[in-house]
Amino acid sequence: MSGEATQEELQAGRGYEALFVPALFAPWTGHVTKAARVREGDHVLDIACGSGVLARAALERVGKSGRTAGLDPAPGMIAAAKEVETGIDWVIGSAEDLPFEEDMFDCVISQFGIMFFQDRPKATREMQRVTKPGGRLGLAVWHSVEQNPAYRDIAAVLDEHVSAEAADTVRIPFCLGDPDQVVQLLLQAGFEDIAVETKEETAHFPSTRTMVEVELRGWLPLFNIHLSEEEISDVLKKSDATLSKYATPSGTAKFPTSAYIMSARKPG
Ligand SMILES: C[S@@+](CC[C@H](N)C(=O)[O-])C[C@H]1O[C@@H](n2cnc3c(N)ncnc32)[C@H](O)[C@@H]1O
Repeated sequence: MSGEATQEELQAGRGYEALFVPALFAPWTGHVTKAARVREGDHVLDIACGSGVLARAALERVGKSGRTAGLDPAPGMIAAAKEVETGIDWVIGSAEDLPFEEDMFDCVISQFGIMFFQDRPKATREMQRVTKPGGRLGLAVWHSVEQNPAYRDIAAVLDEHVSAEAADTVRIPFCLGDPDQVVQLLLQAGFEDIAVETKEETAHFPSTRTMVEVELRGWLPLFNIHLSEEEISDVLKKSDATLSKYATPSGTAKFPTSAYIMSARKPG
């Protein structure tokens, strides 16, 4: 996997850190570190770390006597993560082929990554392999798009004003809404003591238009769907009617999100 991020990839990673992390992902870190019972002195791995928000939360818990690593295949995410925190071992790599020895980590954690893995059985076996016997796993996974109505509505806007293909890309992160699928993966990988808990959080965006704009500018291009400035401006105007229910009196946007938190243990 190539190491250096291009300027474009770095900008994408910085954009993710500046906008998506505080708006959507930061509220979940405490649930995941708690599920994995991350403690002082632990050696922790955050898989699909993105720009590193969960790994940073783990670092705070493990303190100076612990150690934290964050892994992601996107060089731009890792480059952005390094800009924010230098006290973590940032690694470019994929969940399916972890570049670590077996039995290395007290805790393996991951939030909102598993739905993107190409080979989930292989990735969960890898998670189990690198966890120490008796070590703990903590995962956050979105519930279905129906249980995350703001994304159901954004997908509907894209269905109507962009294309069915564009709308489908917005639904991808919600494809593992049934926790039983993940429970089966973890059992087959050799984890035990699996527990699932539903949690709700609140997402905050600068405006309802930003909710859509980040999808149009930051998400669709990853699937080779590129809109002109004129098309973007047109879709944003047309999104107002559908998304006005998420607007606050001060003009920001706020909406509920729902995910499940899974914990498990490696036997030993
Ligand atoms: C929605 S982001 C979540 C990032 C981070 N966990 C957070 O909470 O902000 C999903 C991440 O999964 C990563 N990803 C995609 N495929 C992956 C794979 N096969 N192995 C590991 N990470 C992967 C992406 O690069 C991206 O950074």
